[in-house]
Amino acid sequence: WVLMATGRSPTNIAVIKYWGKRDETLILPVNDSISVTLDPDHLSATTTVAASPSFPSDRMWLNGKEIALSGGRFQSCLREIRKRARDVEDEKKGIKIKKEDWEKLHVHIASYNNFPTAAGLASSAAGLACLVFTLGKLMNVNEDYGELSSIARQGSGSACRSIYGGFVKWCMGKNDDGSDSMAVQLADESHWDDLVIIIAVVSSKQKETSSTSGMRDTVETSPLLQYRAQTVVPSRILKMEDAIKNRDFESFARLTCADSNQFHAVCLDTSPPIFYMNDTSHRIISLVEKWNHSEGTPQVAYTFDAGPNAVLIARNRKTATLLLQRLLYTFPPQKNDLDSYMLGDKSIL
Ligand code: DP6
Repeated sequence: WVLMATGRSPTNIAVIKYWGKRDETLILPVNDSISVTLDPDHLSATTTVAASPSFPSDRMWLNGKEIALSGGRFQSCLREIRKRARDVEDEKKGIKIKKEDWEKLHVHIASYNNFPTAAGLASSAAGLACLVFTLGKLMNVNEDYGELSSIARQGSGSACRSIYGGFVKWCMGKNDDGSDSMAVQLADESHWDDLVIIIAVVSSKQKETSSTSGMRDTVETSPLLQYRAQTVVPSRILKMEDAIKNRDFESFARLTCADSNQFHAVCLDTSPPIFYMNDTSHRIISLVEKWNHSEGTPQVAYTFDAGPNAVLIARNRKTATLLLQRLLYTFPPQKNDLDSYMLGDKSIL
């Protein structure tokens, strides 16, 4: 017999960034972070997990290609879920699994992203959150979302925030064992549904420096990171929570842009410096800054993760339409840039 479960998790975009770990194994961050979870129809991972006594080992496929499960992170998530597994009974199929049987049962995992991996938007956040959620479903785990988020955190830090929809805060926690480092939902997906998120794919190349190694170098070499984590972020988190609660777009946009810029500043402050943004990213920042300045109040917020692609958050649908027009006018698709041309309107999601 084979027992299966399927789940779907969207990716999330941080508006106050996580960058730097105080514990690399448990994935414990140096500061709190806040994100917005995207609509699952656009950027999400769908994962099916299957368990069977005929599987000789754990195996995993990503977008149809088998990947090695040797990395400690997948194993940590699997181990933590297995520990919490409970009895499962499927009368129709005549399957009865005792909770202690889960230790011996191997799983096959197949995960798909509904967005082009080549677009450089492949995010571990959706994938790991989905893996934990779906394994939990298969093994009849009864933990609350906070506990699941802290397991997903051990797969990839940002994944802990994708367990919830809407606006989410990852509380860094104080404990050495990570037991209080988990995500909480600040507001659900219906709270501020005027906002429109546009992702401008600036480069379809995979990023050169992974988040994991980039933040390790920053922790080891950047004097600015200390100041950011201890002095700047704590007060920004409070202000961002207020801005979200009050749907105050002006504060939300100012904080989001400032935090993205400071995150890239600590990347530059790293030795050797890390450059995630390119000239096109800088041009997009200037376009938005000029527009916001000419309106007298922010219309659009920008934020960039560990790569050159721009995440633009418009205050409403009308602004989003104008923004799209401006982007297409300023950056007409290039004939020789086949990749982005072929992505067509998908390159601006
Ligand atoms: C820039 O969660 O990918 O997107 O914990 O090492 O897997 P690991 O890193 P990851 O880092 C994400 C960094 C970021 C900012 C953010 O999402 O908060």
